[in-house]
Amino acid sequence: MSSIRRIPAPSLRVGMYLHKIGGSWLSHPFIRSSFLLTDAEDVRKIMESGIDSVWIDESKGDALQDVEAVGEAPYPDDIGAAVELPGTPAPDPQGSSEGAKRIHAVSSSLDVEIERARNICLAGKAQVQEMFSDLRLGRTVEQESVLPLVEEIAASVWRNPAAMISVARLKTHDDYSYLHSVAVSALMLALARQLKLDDRMVRVAGVGGLMHDLGKAFMPLEILNKPGRLTDEEFAVMKTHPEAGADALREGGCEPEVIDVSLHHHERMDGRGYPYGLKDDEISLLARMGAVCDVYDAVTSIRPYKRPWDPAMAMREMARWDGHFDNRVFNAFVKSVGIYPVGSLVRLASDRLAVIVEPGVESLLKPKVRAFYSTRSREKILPQVIDLAAPDCRESIVSPESPEQWGLSNLESLWL
Ligand SMILES: [Fe+2]
Repeated sequence: MSSIRRIPAPSLRVGMYLHKIGGSWLSHPFIRSSFLLTDAEDVRKIMESGIDSVWIDESKGDALQDVEAVGEAPYPDDIGAAVELPGTPAPDPQGSSEGAKRIHAVSSSLDVEIERARNICLAGKAQVQEMFSDLRLGRTVEQESVLPLVEEIAASVWRNPAAMISVARLKTHDDYSYLHSVAVSALMLALARQLKLDDRMVRVAGVGGLMHDLGKAFMPLEILNKPGRLTDEEFAVMKTHPEAGADALREGGCEPEVIDVSLHHHERMDGRGYPYGLKDDEISLLARMGAVCDVYDAVTSIRPYKRPWDPAMAMREMARWDGHFDNRVFNAFVKSVGIYPVGSLVRLASDRLAVIVEPGVESLLKPKVRAFYSTRSREKILPQVIDLAAPDCRESIVSPESPEQWGLSNLESLWL
């Protein structure tokens, strides 16, 4: 017999394991819909949000004893089943916001989470591809359809942000458009949490990231897939994708903020962006966040006309782009992804090249690295993992480096 049962919301008690909240994920008060209720405040929020009934998992928490279950309605397995691991609550690496405290996530090691992130990326890629096809066929897409995927991405980011963010960066020419959406969703979720946005806004950021570039579905394929730089005329056509996307999202009944991210993710703080050339406060916070996440993923991904930038080099370059981004948002972005994101190439004080294999816990400047190349002998050396935060460690990072300049490729094999 299933351990999952539907109960009236007023029967919910601390100690029960909330498996699924009825109604729209966007309208309920938590970023996750599956977690152990440990706080009476969370129970109160569910009552106050007008939710009639919830599903609880009696194998993971207290059972319903005195109150009648709402019929025998089985839990629909295909709707938003969250991935949950046994373990201890994840520490909030950013100092914890109220919103983050409510997120009952559990941590997982980078290795374990990378495997999960790969699967989520595969599923996400397929779903985004389907949305592109639907739009090309004149169908509408609704944000409700992406909520389970965004919840999966969010769950992975809460467990270990570096995994999803690093895996979603790796793309081929062919899957760029689809995986870019998944990557921007993950980056938006991490950034929203870093900015201490409330849970609803965190969710909207994730959905906005996933749907921000759907307008590309309406762009001519010969321009979208052109293996080279666009001409001015072609670029003028591509610049219509934010409005095309916003129109499609409006038709699908998406939240105004989700439409806003689609419409304004190419605006710049100095007014030199498109489609409207908005400036400063004319651009919403979510659209400013979208701009940073979109550019970071675009420049660190392989494109038909360029090699990807190293992630740490991208951070350094983007910091120099005057007038493009909102400084507060960009600084939060650096904190959420890292000055040296996983997979970055760096030079160490000992004249060795190394790849970042794990972000620093105490300091963004002291990640865990794998040294593998001597810059003196210009030869590969026996790989060595070094924790730069270890008390006895005298090694340090001197600078980010370009893999291209050192003739290095396939750095993924050193951290993936
Ligand atoms: Fe775009």
